[in-house]
Formats: sequence, C-alpha cells, structure tokens
Amino acid sequence: MSLSTIIQKLPKAELHLHIEGSLTPELMWHLASKHSITLPYKSIEEIAAAYQFTNLQSFLDIYYAGAGVLIDEDDFYALMWAYFTRCHEDNVVHTEIMFDPQTHTARGIGFDVFMPGFLRAMKDAQKQYGISSYLIMSFLRHLPESDAFATLEAAKPYYSVIDAVGLDSSELGHPPSKFERVFREARALGFKIVAHAGEEGPPEYIWEALDLLNVDRIDHGVRCQEDEKLMAYINANQIPLTVCPLSNLKLCVVDDLAKHNILSLLDEGLMVTVNSDDPTYFGGFLNDNYIALCDALPVTEAHVKQLAINSFAASFLPDDIKQQHIAHIH
Ligand code: HPA
Ligand code: ZN
Repeated sequence: MSLSTIIQKLPKAELHLHIEGSLTPELMWHLASKHSITLPYKSIEEIAAAYQFTNLQSFLDIYYAGAGVLIDEDDFYALMWAYFTRCHEDNVVHTEIMFDPQTHTARGIGFDVFMPGFLRAMKDAQKQYGISSYLIMSFLRHLPESDAFATLEAAKPYYSVIDAVGLDSSELGHPPSKFERVFREARALGFKIVAHAGEEGPPEYIWEALDLLNVDRIDHGVRCQEDEKLMAYINANQIPLTVCPLSNLKLCVVDDLAKHNILSLLDEGLMVTVNSDDPTYFGGFLNDNYIALCDALPVTEAHVKQLAINSFAASFLPDDIKQQHIAHIH
C-alpha cells in the first residue's frame, strides 16, 4: 500500500485548526454576494491568487479581512460544515477547533450569532459523520489583555461547550507574559490551555507559555530546537507540539519542507502532531500536510502511524476514548 493510501485510511485527529482559516474562496465569494459585500477581488480565482504571503502578518491581514463575510448564524454553520465535510473525506474522526471571537465581536457580531452556528454544525457532524469535536476559544495577542478578559466574560453563557482557551495572531512583540493574568483566570475556570509559541517567536516565548500560562500544548513550537534545555524539557514532559507543515512553508518559517524539523523532533521522541492550521489559505487540508511531508522527507509507514497515534494521545479526549482510537491504528 502506498503511503498516501495509508494516510487516507488512517483515522486521525486534528488539533490545530482555525475555523476562520478554513473559509474557501468559493464560500467567501458566495457570502459576499449574499450580504452585498464588495470584496477587493473580481473573481474566486482572484481571491485564491491573492494568497501570497511572506510572513505571519501578511497572512493575518488577508485572513481577518476574509472573515468579514461571516455575518449570520447560517454563515458560521456553513463555514464549519464545509470543514467537517473535508474532515470526513480525510478520515479525521476527532478535531479540536480554534475560533477567534474578537475577529467577530469587533464587527458587532456576538457570541449569540457564531456559537449557535458552530454548535449546530458540530452536532450534525457527530450525527452524520461520527466526528467528535471540541472548541478552543483563542485570544488575539495583538490586542490588549483587557480585551481578552472582556472576551472571557462575554463567553460565560458558553463555558460548558468550550473546552480550551488559546492564544493566536501576531506573535512577535506579543509574548505570552502579556496574558499571564487572563490565562490564570481561564485555568481556574477549568479550561485546558494552549498557546501559539515558537512559530515566528523565539524559544523564550515557549518557556513563557509553559511557565506563565501553564499550557497543556504548544501550537507550532518548531523553534524549540534552538534551545537544547527547552527541547529536553518538552521531551521529558511530552508536551505536545501541534506542528503545521504547509503553514510553515507558506509563511516562510521554513523555506523548504525538506528542511522541516518535524521528523527529527519525532525521531527524538517529542510528542509532535501534524495539522493544517488555516487550510484554505496555506494550500492543504490535513492529509495534504501528511503527504507533503512524505514527499519532502524520508517518512516511513511507522512515522505516519506514530503521528496518527500522537494526534489522539495529544488530544483533550478522555483517556479511554483516546485508547479506543489508538487501538484502530495498530
Ligand atoms: N499563527 C498565529 N495566528 C494565527 C495563525 C497562526 O498560524 N493562524 C490563524 N491565526
Ligand atoms: Zn495557528
């Protein structure tokens, strides 16, 4: 069996996915026309052609603008349902989905609009595809900590359906320490904690995410390799890293996938996982990320299986459910 067939057949979890980053140019075009919004593009092809990024910020500028077509509950349902349909095609059986409330509340669109749309799609995905899903509410780190506190407060009616709290957006200049207090509160409320760190930012940001935010996982984390002590700590404690290969390539975190460190991190025993991050912007959903790695690096069947096992092991699923999923991989 070819590696790509093995990848297709393996049940997998996805742990680093921004739902706003799964908006296809087709859906963006459709929703813009539905709401009479004028996009700065003349066609679906022009939208896709605009996705030429040189770093995280040049991506974020387009990503936040694109989310402007999401207006009503049905739009958020359609966004999430389209992602679940791709999960079903890729045999993703569990997914932990990040959403950025501030991207919407800043436009006057509140939790009572996007949450019902998300939750309805999640229920339908469980029913129709057998896909389980959790929600990770992410704070935008380029905004002040007081905004994050206001977001945590606004989310109150939905605490029971949110599993974790995360930190994303522009990393450089916005270290985890800026959000120490709001994450202390989120942890006290019982949320799991994740944070983007070590994507563009230095290893010190990963230390801060670990020491000050008490994260359960690091999103990206690929720059941990620059600090031997940090690598040893992450390995010894099996802190999961949710790595996103095509994202790293597209945002020039690496200039060639053949130079990506995911395989060497895996071989050293770190709890690394493969994820798609913002699939419609970075040129591939989950299986595309696995296949791109296989094309660029000496990935074996054992590696692929280990990555699939890790995707469940590093998830926030209860231990018995993790083990049930992992049992299907051997
Ligand atoms: N990094 C930081 N913020 C983000 C990303 C990312 O990869 N994707 C969406 N928001
Ligand atoms: Zn991300």
